[in-house]
Amino acid sequence: MMKNKKLLCLGIESSCDETSAAIVSTDREILSHIIYSQIPEHQKYGGVVPELAARAHVLAIDEVVQKTLSDANKTISDIDVIAATAGPGLIGGVLIGWEFAVALAQATGKPLVAINHLEGHALVPRLTNNVSFPYLLMLASGGHSQILLVRGVGDYEIIGQTLDDSAGEAFDKVSKMLGLGYPGGPIIDKRAKLGDKNAFKFPRPLCDKPGCDFSFSGIKTSVRNQITKTKEQTEEFKNNICASFQESVVDCIINRLQNALNDSRVINAEPKTIVVAGGVAKNLAIRAAMEKLAIDSGMEFAAPTLNLCTDNGAMIAWAGIENYLADRIVREPTAPRPRWPLMEL
Ligand code: KG4
Ligand code: ZN
Repeated sequence: MMKNKKLLCLGIESSCDETSAAIVSTDREILSHIIYSQIPEHQKYGGVVPELAARAHVLAIDEVVQKTLSDANKTISDIDVIAATAGPGLIGGVLIGWEFAVALAQATGKPLVAINHLEGHALVPRLTNNVSFPYLLMLASGGHSQILLVRGVGDYEIIGQTLDDSAGEAFDKVSKMLGLGYPGGPIIDKRAKLGDKNAFKFPRPLCDKPGCDFSFSGIKTSVRNQITKTKEQTEEFKNNICASFQESVVDCIINRLQNALNDSRVINAEPKTIVVAGGVAKNLAIRAAMEKLAIDSGMEFAAPTLNLCTDNGAMIAWAGIENYLADRIVREPTAPRPRWPLMEL
């Protein structure tokens, strides 16, 4: 297949609680994008129930892919490359999207690219903001929190990572403790704007230490202690907890990124852009603080548009295009993986 002509990639994502598909072109156009969110199905359990997620993916996948094709006015024969998340994630869900893609590829003879979900998050700023390599990436999702040096497609170096909870997990757990619901990130983000960020002084774990690793579980424990000892939990109290908790997370991210900018691997690579991606990148306080850090450091700042931060098919389709153009294609179906560190790419 000629690689200088415009190519279309159909991307499929099913690793958590979104069944999503998109058609994206090599010239960065999203022709169609369907995100079927299962959040209402999991809300009453306070988090994602893997078995329910897998069943919901089975019921949704066919319609989601069909609608993605019809919204773009395309049929499967117009598609040049098929890409699907092959891990990491909830294996029941990953299997459904991946096997669907394998069947499509085998039936049509189209090339199939196995996408690492984290790579989808890591590369999507190149779809939305045309960011060039290398860049310094804060990847913060429900499952992961890492500072990565992104040198190129498939070339990721971990500069720092969480030693316990991910940032998204901390948001979700604090929201649960306050009885505010799932997912916690957007709820806390909204309430933090109404609260006083100086009301409580929660810890900034590891920030007095060198290095770029995170620890979010200590903040969460300190929040729990404050909640336990407060008898009357007014709306004002909850908003103040949200604002103060979020401020601790923001401070930790900025402190660790400052150290990352002074890490010799980063200095030698000379990245021009600081980027945030993953579900937590929707957080406006984190985006604003990182933008300020970038300006203060004489660098550019980039973040995907809000609907491309949380899980979506467009990031998988774009990663499919990037890997296809870099000749990183899986020709034989591989087994999906529940765990799949970026460093193994
Ligand atoms: O990337 P993502 O959709 O799924 C994973 O790959 O894990 O991230 C979901 C996470 C959840 O923990 C959710 O609470 C968090 O992203 N999140 C946010 C916001 N929106 C979603 N966290 C902070 N502020 C937000 N506005
Ligand atoms: Zn994700």
